[in-house]
Amino acid sequence: MSGSQEARKKLARDKILVALDVTSIEKALELVHLLKDYVGGFKVGLELCTNCGTPQVVEKISQAGGQVFLDLKFKDIPNTVAGASRAAARDGILMFNVHCDGGSEMMRASVAAVSRQSTHRPLVIGVTVLTSIDQRIMNEEVGVQGDVGAHAVHLAQLAKSAGLDGVVCSPREVALIKSACGRDFLTVVPGVRPTWAETGDQKRVMTPSEAVAAGADYLVIGRPITSPPQEIGSPVEAAKRIAAELN
Ligand code: C5P
Repeated sequence: MSGSQEARKKLARDKILVALDVTSIEKALELVHLLKDYVGGFKVGLELCTNCGTPQVVEKISQAGGQVFLDLKFKDIPNTVAGASRAAARDGILMFNVHCDGGSEMMRASVAAVSRQSTHRPLVIGVTVLTSIDQRIMNEEVGVQGDVGAHAVHLAQLAKSAGLDGVVCSPREVALIKSACGRDFLTVVPGVRPTWAETGDQKRVMTPSEAVAAGADYLVIGRPITSPPQEIGSPVEAAKRIAAELN
C-alpha cells in the first residue's frame, strides 16, 4: 500500500468511534484491546460510567490505548458544568458533550474551563435535540414550538457561537448543520449502519460512506462492530470493513 493510501486509511479509521454499550469494565476493555488499532476511539456513556465510575473507566481505556468520547451530556448551572468539564478534561479524553439547551452561558463556561487547562484540551461537543424527542413531544410535552429539525439547527448555531467544537446529530441533519455552521464545525453522527448490518432499533440510518459524504466528521457505531453478523465474523473484521468502505 502506498504512503498516501496508508494516510487515507488512517483518516478513515480515525472517524470511527465505537459505542461501548456494556455494563462492565472487563467487557469494555476486551473490546478496546481488540479494536484500538482499527478505530479512532470509544464512546462511553452514562450506563458504563454509573456502573463502574467515570475516572476508572477513562483511565483504564486510556491505559489500554483507546481514546475516549465521554458521552455524559452535561446540563446544569454554568458553574457546575464548568467544574464537570474541568474534571472531564483529562488525558485520554478525545471529546465530551454538553446539552446545547443548557444555554450559551453554560456552554461558554464549559469551553472556558477546558481552555484554561494548561495540558489537554478535549473537543467540546453539543447535544442538540435528542433523537428520541419527536415533533409532538417537543411541541406538546417540552413546550418548544416550531419544527424539530429547524430547532436542532438553531441549537447547533447557538453552540457554535458559544465556542463549541461541534454537535452530535443524526446523519440526516449533517448537511443542514454544515451549511448553517460551516465546514469546520464538527458533526458526530450515530445512526450509522453498513449495508451488511441489521438496523435494529435505529430507524433513519445512513451507511458510513453516505454519512461521511454528507459531511460527518465522526461516526458513532455500536452493534455493527461489537456484535457483527455471522458472515462478517469478528469485531475487528467489521471495523476493517467499515474503514475500507470509507476509503
Ligand atoms: O449500536 P448502535 O450503532 O445503534 O449504537 C449507537 C450509539 O449511539 C448508542 O450508544 C446510542 O445510545 C448512541 N446514540 C444514538 N442516537 C443518538 C444519540 C446517541 O444512537 N441520537
